[in-house]
Amino acid sequence: MSDAPTHVVELRDVQLAFPQKTVLEKVSLKVDPLDRLVIMGQSGSGKSTILRLILGIIQPTAGEIFFKQFEISRLQRRKLQQVRTHIGMVYQYSALLSSRNVRDNVALPLEELTRKSTAEIDKIVDEKLEMVGMMESKNQMPSELSGGMRKRVSLARALVMDPELILFDEPSAGLDPVISSVIDELIISLTDRSKVTSIIVTHEMESAFRIGTRMAMLYQGIVIADATPEEFKKSNDPVVRQFLSGSTEGPILEGSKDAVATK
Ligand SMILES: Nc1ncnc2c1ncn2[C@@H]1O[C@H](COP(=O)(O)OP(=O)(O)OP(=O)(O)O)[C@@H](O)[C@H]1O
Ligand SMILES: [Mg+2]
Repeated sequence: MSDAPTHVVELRDVQLAFPQKTVLEKVSLKVDPLDRLVIMGQSGSGKSTILRLILGIIQPTAGEIFFKQFEISRLQRRKLQQVRTHIGMVYQYSALLSSRNVRDNVALPLEELTRKSTAEIDKIVDEKLEMVGMMESKNQMPSELSGGMRKRVSLARALVMDPELILFDEPSAGLDPVISSVIDELIISLTDRSKVTSIIVTHEMESAFRIGTRMAMLYQGIVIADATPEEFKKSNDPVVRQFLSGSTEGPILEGSKDAVATK
């Protein structure tokens, strides 16, 4: 391949069309090593879809998606599974297995994807639980934990394979503002400390500015802004401005059935 990308993730003119609807028209994004790229956009704009495309769970209808030198949609199943072990995912609602305690939830990827001994697994699990401040809850069941604690456990689970990339889908969803800030700080310290690149999907503006080293805004199937947080704040784009201010006045709701409800 002559033009193999040098980025951790690259989307080139990605389109995702369903029969009823085109979700992504033409999305291009580049994520450099150690970036924390925040992807913002309205509900339904395709943010989670981008994460699913990067993981190879769904295929684009056009365009290319790379994780390092690997073109995700062209990989054979086995190779895709192997490449995916380098990508950690933190789901919107933590997605812990309710029948397994904290230790066993965090150990799961190691048990399924490696041949490590129980002693080795225990050591890694302890190290990651320590990093997220959850050692004391090691033997608790997910149902005994608060939302913030579950999020920490799911962070630990995303770290056990020592990934090069972590994808976060709405890391502060369902958390109060104080706990959200704590989780944001944890994301910053863990990604710095573990030297890992990350993509964070969020609609929380405060969170986005706290975490992001870069920000991209998705609107009507394309990336309308891709900049540093400082540049983003100064943007004159009316959609970006409306999104930042949370106003009901502006282009975002025009022509949408949601607009009626706001009048
Ligand atoms: N299999 C599918 N068939 C048809 N449409 C789909 C399918 N999967 C997703 N979509 C559509 O893709 C759009 C984007 O969904 P996505 O979950 O990526 O949005 P989002 O930006 O993450 O929204 P939210 O902020 O609410 O989580 C939605 O309009 C959804 O209805
Ligand atoms: Mg989503």
